[in-house]
Amino acid sequence: METIILAAGKGTRMKSKLPKVLHKVGGKPMLQHVIDAAKSAGSKREVVIIGSGAELVKQTFPDAEFVMQEEQLGTGHAVLCAKEKFKDSTGNVMILCGDTPLFTGELLKNLSNAHEKFNAAATVLTAIMPDPKGYGRIIRADNVDFEKIVEDKDATPEQKKIREVNTGIYCFDVKRLFAALEKVTNDNSQGEYYLPDVLAILRADGGRICAVVAEDYKQTLGINSRIQLAEADKILHQRKNAELMLSGVTIIDPATTYIDFEVEVGQDTIIYPNTYLEGKTKIGEDCVIGPNVRFTDMTVGNNVTAQFAYCHEAEIADGVTFGPYVHIRPNTKISGKVKIGNFVEIKNSNIGEGTKLPHLQYIGDCDMGAGCNVGCGAITVNYDGKKKFRTKVGDNVFVGCNSNLVAPVTVEDDAYIAAGSTITQDVPKNNLAIGRARQVNKSSWNDRRIKD
Ligand code: UD1
Ligand code: CA
Repeated sequence: METIILAAGKGTRMKSKLPKVLHKVGGKPMLQHVIDAAKSAGSKREVVIIGSGAELVKQTFPDAEFVMQEEQLGTGHAVLCAKEKFKDSTGNVMILCGDTPLFTGELLKNLSNAHEKFNAAATVLTAIMPDPKGYGRIIRADNVDFEKIVEDKDATPEQKKIREVNTGIYCFDVKRLFAALEKVTNDNSQGEYYLPDVLAILRADGGRICAVVAEDYKQTLGINSRIQLAEADKILHQRKNAELMLSGVTIIDPATTYIDFEVEVGQDTIIYPNTYLEGKTKIGEDCVIGPNVRFTDMTVGNNVTAQFAYCHEAEIADGVTFGPYVHIRPNTKISGKVKIGNFVEIKNSNIGEGTKLPHLQYIGDCDMGAGCNVGCGAITVNYDGKKKFRTKVGDNVFVGCNSNLVAPVTVEDDAYIAAGSTITQDVPKNNLAIGRARQVNKSSWNDRRIKD
């Protein structure tokens, strides 16, 4: 089985600078969903028809096979542009639309099985839509056998009442498809070459046409507007939440939990409301995540507790607790049992096992060992206005409150830094470093001030 995916249209109704098929649903571009479903249904090759915004689509999918449709003259014309690429093909080809991202590989598999079983010239997937507006309607002769598809814009008021629609998902005998496409005309209200017209042409030639009704119309929703984009996103999130809950994850309020398609969450993890788990995030078992957490491309171990936090492109080992109000930025590795408290920002740093960063720290470009205790308000000074430098802190170091570690600087194991110090020189092992002006008390100063 090979696949053609239509993605050249302008997506006019999206009112967007971005090509429609690059808009994300469930955290993944629409076109990616379609390619992935085709592959999981056993497709050996996917050829994507592109036109509007072609360069951007190519950049986003560097490994895909593309055909240019210079002018968008309709879905039939789009498929015909791929004729050369399929000249040696025999057997069947699936045709999918890049703007219909909700179907599963299983649905496609069922469609291609039906197509093969009935030895059809073409098989179209249909759906019974609560609101069929905008879709092509399925016309059945005597309400039984497939006759033709009438586009919404060409339909009579009587035909518009039909709720069975064309989902834009088809299987064709590849040779017959390309032969019939040559016969399609653009004699319709939009002046376009319609792919669905091929079905009536094949039927007139004596070919068998199957119209298979999808069990769940929601899998076949097409996205033409931002309203439909939001609906599709909601469906994907509901589906993901259900899948996770069935696998043993507690989601306190699925309506306010947004988990992207590819995210993994381990057993007995509890997710509190208003949580966003995005991209390629992986979370282990027995964690408590949320409320108000946003994780993007994070790798999180087991037994991690996080609340009110935004963390992206970082790794967090087992037993770490953090929040509220934490920002963990890219290239950060937090070892096991680290405690990160309120109002802490960490970026491009490694934090050793069991270290405590309990309140108000900024740790940037820093390698910190295990068992350290960092006082409130201590920060790394990693930037001189031109360049960034690293700070090295050994194991079991005590950094007093409100200290500045001015990089590049090294603080060796078991060292102590007095509160309020500005550390500009390396601190040897076991040393106490005091880097602040000595306090002076002026006796009776206030009495004198009042007299003056
Ligand atoms: C199409 C079908 C309609 C079906 C609906 C399902 C046609 C004529 N109509 O309508 O019967 O109910 O899908 O969602 O096929 N495209 C190209 N080149 C073109 C035109 C379109 O590649 O010249 C691509 C678009 O990028 C899109 C897909 O084909 O991915 C469908 O086009 P669209 O304009 O959205 O068709 P619909 O009006 O939704
Ligand atoms: Ca469409």
